Amino acid sequence: MIVDVHLRPEDLDAKLREDARRGLTSDPKYLSPTWLYDARGSELFDEITRLPEYYPTRTEFALLRQHAADFADAARPEMLVELGSGSSEKTHVLLDALEPYLHTYVPQDVSEPALRSAVTRLAAEYPNLTVHGVVGDFTDSLTHLPAGGKRAIAFLGGTIGNLVPSERAQFLAGTAAILHPGEGLVLDRDTLIAAYDDAAGVTAEFDRNVLRVLNDRLGADFDPARFVHRAVWDPENEWIEMRLEATEAMDVTIPGLDLQISFAEGEQIRTEISAKFRLVGISQELADAGFVVRHEWVDPDGRFVLLAASRE
Ligand code: AVJ
Repeated sequence: MIVDVHLRPEDLDAKLREDARRGLTSDPKYLSPTWLYDARGSELFDEITRLPEYYPTRTEFALLRQHAADFADAARPEMLVELGSGSSEKTHVLLDALEPYLHTYVPQDVSEPALRSAVTRLAAEYPNLTVHGVVGDFTDSLTHLPAGGKRAIAFLGGTIGNLVPSERAQFLAGTAAILHPGEGLVLDRDTLIAAYDDAAGVTAEFDRNVLRVLNDRLGADFDPARFVHRAVWDPENEWIEMRLEATEAMDVTIPGLDLQISFAEGEQIRTEISAKFRLVGISQELADAGFVVRHEWVDPDGRFVLLAASRE
């Protein structure tokens, strides 16, 4: 088992500072969804995936379980690269189906501790596989993938929805550029609006947690109790935005950035975009990037799609 590190904790720290400074001094204010996921944020996201309102994760899981074997037999990849891999059940479904063809599994993640523990566990569970982890962000990581064998890149968990269309096009073109003919990409995304404001308030807690991250890591004095969570559908862009809205005017100090910012009553920070796809739209985007869509698996309610595409 191997772990390549292309992103050190200090690089990640510098990125947080840069992002927080740029986003919180912009008008309107925004933050990258990356920072929602500290230990507590990841726990809250796990809790979200079990909520009755949040169908994407369980729908994706069912689609994968149903179609992973078809995908394996059609694509026959020797190396599976999983971008933004957690240590999830999803990985097991894929690895179990692909095992007859695979010699190497390459999980990629920005978090070195999370990746190391996944690599150790998976190497023990799949003794016939070489597990070669890559710590990095997913764009950089594409240029650092180990060579050898026919590859399939999996980008699951709906993470692609966090990208705005220009970033999405860049990601798809970048992926196409490193793949050889016959190699492919597996993607997924829900096609409709999910509930991003659940009755139990878990999503609200998840959203407000990003303020705690800024307090912990940059010494900021955000009072999360003075922000309410809003989920807003943007019909033109067809994406959901999570926003945190200041319940009153206030000043916030961020010593780690040597920065003081102020909020008007009702002022919002956009903390995430979560784009929803239409089948024709995403297929066209894949075609524009140079992919041919080989399979589209849609759940019975038509709310979620799992796509496999390859380079011609
Ligand atoms: C992990 C990015 C797929 O966009 O649905 C869940 C995160 N945000 N509830 C999504 C999320 C609010 C999630 N992704």
